[in-house]
Amino acid sequence: MNKPNLPTTWEPSPNNLEPFWMGFTPNRAFKQRPRMIARAKDMHYYDMGGRPILDGSAGLWCTNAGHCREPIVSAIQKSAAELDFAPTFQYGHPKVFELASRLATMAPGDLNYAFFCNSGSEAADTALKIALAYQRSIGQASRTRLIGRERGYHGVNFGGISVGGMVANRKMFGTMLAGVDHLPHTYNRKEQAFTRGEPAWGGHLAEELERLVILHDASTIAAVIVEPMAGSTGVLPPPKGYLKKLREICTKHGILLIFDEVITGFGRLGSAFAAERFGVIPDMITFAKGVTSGTVPMGGVMVRQGIYDAFANAQDHMIELFHGYTYTGHPIAAAAGLATVDLYRDEKLFERAASLETKWADAAFTLQGNPLVEDIRTIGLVAGIDMRPIEGKPGLRAYKAMENAFHDHGFLLRISGDTIALSPPLIVSEDQINEIFTDKMPKVLASVASL
Ligand SMILES: Cc1ncc(COP(=O)(O)O)c(C=O)c1O
Repeated sequence: MNKPNLPTTWEPSPNNLEPFWMGFTPNRAFKQRPRMIARAKDMHYYDMGGRPILDGSAGLWCTNAGHCREPIVSAIQKSAAELDFAPTFQYGHPKVFELASRLATMAPGDLNYAFFCNSGSEAADTALKIALAYQRSIGQASRTRLIGRERGYHGVNFGGISVGGMVANRKMFGTMLAGVDHLPHTYNRKEQAFTRGEPAWGGHLAEELERLVILHDASTIAAVIVEPMAGSTGVLPPPKGYLKKLREICTKHGILLIFDEVITGFGRLGSAFAAERFGVIPDMITFAKGVTSGTVPMGGVMVRQGIYDAFANAQDHMIELFHGYTYTGHPIAAAAGLATVDLYRDEKLFERAASLETKWADAAFTLQGNPLVEDIRTIGLVAGIDMRPIEGKPGLRAYKAMENAFHDHGFLLRISGDTIALSPPLIVSEDQINEIFTDKMPKVLASVASL
């Protein structure tokens, strides 16, 4: 690669796109035919020529309040001018405490404490570290094993990768953490195809945890981490009773239960956290994305009272938990978070997601019968649509669908394998739901039908 000549006004060209090594992207294909986003407002992105692109996936499952919402924008602007940075090791600033209090009131049960970080990946690793430290602090130091689940996604740091169950993500890095095991995933097309909400089949799979407990002995297991609804591996709502059963087994054996709510937090399933929807209180909840509606990086872990209490020290000046990030509770992120949760409350966006769920599912199921569609799963404001893969080329049909949606149909969607995952901002209107399922999606499916 030649070093790019830096022009005075930047326009994309093959040479000046080169230096950014994009994550989770086929770089060469993208740079041949970029999907460039220049600005956003409410439900739409706009490309560099000003063409609107309907956002079918809330960016990356994160802009739950819609794009560039005025109250959040002004809070960020004000905060940037007022307090650019303040340490939260040994010092504090008011907004981060205020945000923690707000989140504690939104979280169910006695999940009363918030530990902040900057992403979902950091949130997952933070929760796993708290689990290990907690077990040790209550005299259970032999509990070092972490249990994840096949088809789970907990970000890209070493802890999250190790307990995660996405094969491609794990292949090169998944063996670095010793003492990890996995529950089976809960998807079975034969038993569950075309289900709305929680499938009736599969609750019994939680019993597999008992099998792992027998195999490894409870005294070696610190925590179980699962997404209440697996998102990144193609939208897998939990089977009926599954999460309750996991809770029971964890409690019985002194194992901590962590819900990774990086996607499901902040209204995606019609309640602040999915834990509330499913009536199960885990010991920790990880969050990110929707906490600032994607505007400023922020993540965190909600922690139960008893876990925080276990970290008391003999001497006041001693640090309780040797963990934290320079940008933990960054003032601009905290300001964005506060403005975001205010907006969720003022516009009743979680209630809105709940009230649109039936309409959303009805619209999604109009695609049932399309010859390409092998399964549809919906829950909250989420839909997973499995397309028939092209023989010998898994993922190609969905990749082409994504390209065509963007370039030809003004539509942004997320893909995983040959699944299209849809999760619009919670401000989506009924007309836009119709537009997604009776206009955009049929056109996108038709564009890849003959591949
Ligand atoms: C459940 C879950 N956990 C963790 C992550 C990682 O979050 P981030 O990309 O912010 O590190 C994601 C991202 O999609 C996620 O869906």
